[in-house]
Amino acid sequence: MCGIVGYLGVKESLPIILNGLKRLEYRGYDSAGVAVFNGSNIASCKSKGKISKLEKSLNKRKNLNGNIGIGHTRWATHGAPNNINAHPQFSNSNKICLVHNGIIENYSTIKQKLLKEGFSFKSETDTEVLVNLIEYVKIKENVKLGEAVQMALNQAIGAYAIAAIDSDKPDEIVVAKLGSPLCIGIGNNEYYIGSDVTPFIEFTKDVVYLKDGELAIIRSHKETIFRKISDDSLVSPTINKLEISLDKIEKQGFDHYMLKEIFEQPKAIKDTLRGRLNLSKGLIKLSGMDDFINKFLTTNKITIIACGTSWHSALIAEYMFEKIAKISVEVEYASEFRYRDPIINKNDIIIAISQSGETADTLAAIKLAKSKGAYIYGVCNVVGSSIARESNSGSYTHAGPEIGVASTKAFTTQMIILYLMAVKLSRAKGIISEKIFHKYLIEISSIDKKVLKTLALNNSIKKIAKKFKSSKNCLYLGRGYNFPIALEGALKLKEISYIHAEGYPAAEMKHGPIALIDKDMPTIVIATNKINYDKIVSNIQEIKSRKGKIIAIVSEGDIEVKKIADFVIEVPDSIESITPFITVIPLQLLSYHIAVMLDRDVDQPRNLAKSVTVE
Ligand code: F6R
Repeated sequence: MCGIVGYLGVKESLPIILNGLKRLEYRGYDSAGVAVFNGSNIASCKSKGKISKLEKSLNKRKNLNGNIGIGHTRWATHGAPNNINAHPQFSNSNKICLVHNGIIENYSTIKQKLLKEGFSFKSETDTEVLVNLIEYVKIKENVKLGEAVQMALNQAIGAYAIAAIDSDKPDEIVVAKLGSPLCIGIGNNEYYIGSDVTPFIEFTKDVVYLKDGELAIIRSHKETIFRKISDDSLVSPTINKLEISLDKIEKQGFDHYMLKEIFEQPKAIKDTLRGRLNLSKGLIKLSGMDDFINKFLTTNKITIIACGTSWHSALIAEYMFEKIAKISVEVEYASEFRYRDPIINKNDIIIAISQSGETADTLAAIKLAKSKGAYIYGVCNVVGSSIARESNSGSYTHAGPEIGVASTKAFTTQMIILYLMAVKLSRAKGIISEKIFHKYLIEISSIDKKVLKTLALNNSIKKIAKKFKSSKNCLYLGRGYNFPIALEGALKLKEISYIHAEGYPAAEMKHGPIALIDKDMPTIVIATNKINYDKIVSNIQEIKSRKGKIIAIVSEGDIEVKKIADFVIEVPDSIESITPFITVIPLQLLSYHIAVMLDRDVDQPRNLAKSVTVE
């Protein structure tokens, strides 16, 4: 995701654009840039990192005054996050300037054609290719910016929301959309552009949501022309009245980012799987692994390193790699690994998991392992982050920016990557037949629907939360794949509600924690297991006979646990290895509702930071 902003009107454009970019930072924050027509040419300023860094660079600049401008905040897809790849991108003549959210899939074919025509390129972006295609068409066909954009887009394949300005036509912004969002705020002789309405909500309530395949030529003191990209037919736009507050829009109607991100999980899962799972061809494509598959097949040892929630997904990976691919895996807390003089050999593989890609302990651990010759595979969410850069190869989770401090969608998407890795390795090693391989693919391809179905239990989970919000302690139990989910459930409760919680493998309960059980100590038991189901039923009986209250997460069709548990959350059934994707959802929701009922700061809990960049 990226965010785009634009302004054309009577005010100074730069402050409006900067403010808009800050509002869109949730869409990406690895680099940002602005461009303003200053009366003689289009001046721009770009910076790697967050908008605050761009703002600092702008303090040193003087020539960015003017009433028309565009801006961009980037979440890298083509090319590393740096100043050169940041948007706006300029055409070779420096006259046309473009911001773009999306992907031009045929950019390399277009680039070859433009190279032959004498164009040159500075960045690795598909956007620079598109802006030069616009320039090429403009010169060749002797047309104005609007026509040139339209003709160029008719040659482009992919998804986009774009805004373009041209110093030959300094009273116009041309915008177009296919697949990515774009809206136009209409003021009094002023126009605002945004990936959503947050950049301009305080200036106007009148908004046109551009539809897929539409282009608009926004002109100063003249009516905007709306037309289809595929032909010249005009379209009449619908002007909508905004009735929602800024706060609600940024959170898309949810009260907190955490809840929004919990509910985004079906989409995030689909985004992580996109282009990686090909059911008809029976393929898993993980580019970071495909070229190095032999390393994975011949390695001495795989060690997975992470912290916090990412460490829990590493623990689940241990089950996946060992059960599905029969590869032995060790899981380490990054902070412990680096200080115990670990034995690392040249043939070792280290998988580093990190949402932010900036966690200091994980970064230091992989640097240590790398210095001893290990191969580093990064599983990160933030593109171009330090851990991603330090890794030899890896896979991005593509969950989109996670803003709530408590990790939710990053966790489920990490598990997706790790599952794909385990299943791919299993097939490559010949452990599973083509038929079983296909079964694994089918199961993961429908997991987003099961997660969606589980999210529909939100209201009943909220009712359960009400009963337990005053607890001082909570116990979480699970077995096998769901033991790390018990740990994750306990962590979620601790960090946002400040209630003390512990996760245990269910069978360990009798080795100590059972002493804590009384009528005031609720136990959350994940009982979806097929293996050891009877043993979990016995554990529940043991708690019940000590007057403990049970909240059980069971698979649809469960009979035994339902008879004895105090509260039951019934989730879709699935094969054992993908139950964690489903069982974690009620635990995230339970913690969320308890924290809200206790009036906690859910998105920014005390003492915590989203990315822990200190030891
Ligand atoms: C818990 C949480 C933290 C992080 C941990 C590692 O909800 O978010 O425990 O998982 O700080 O962070 P990353 O994954 O960014 O390395």
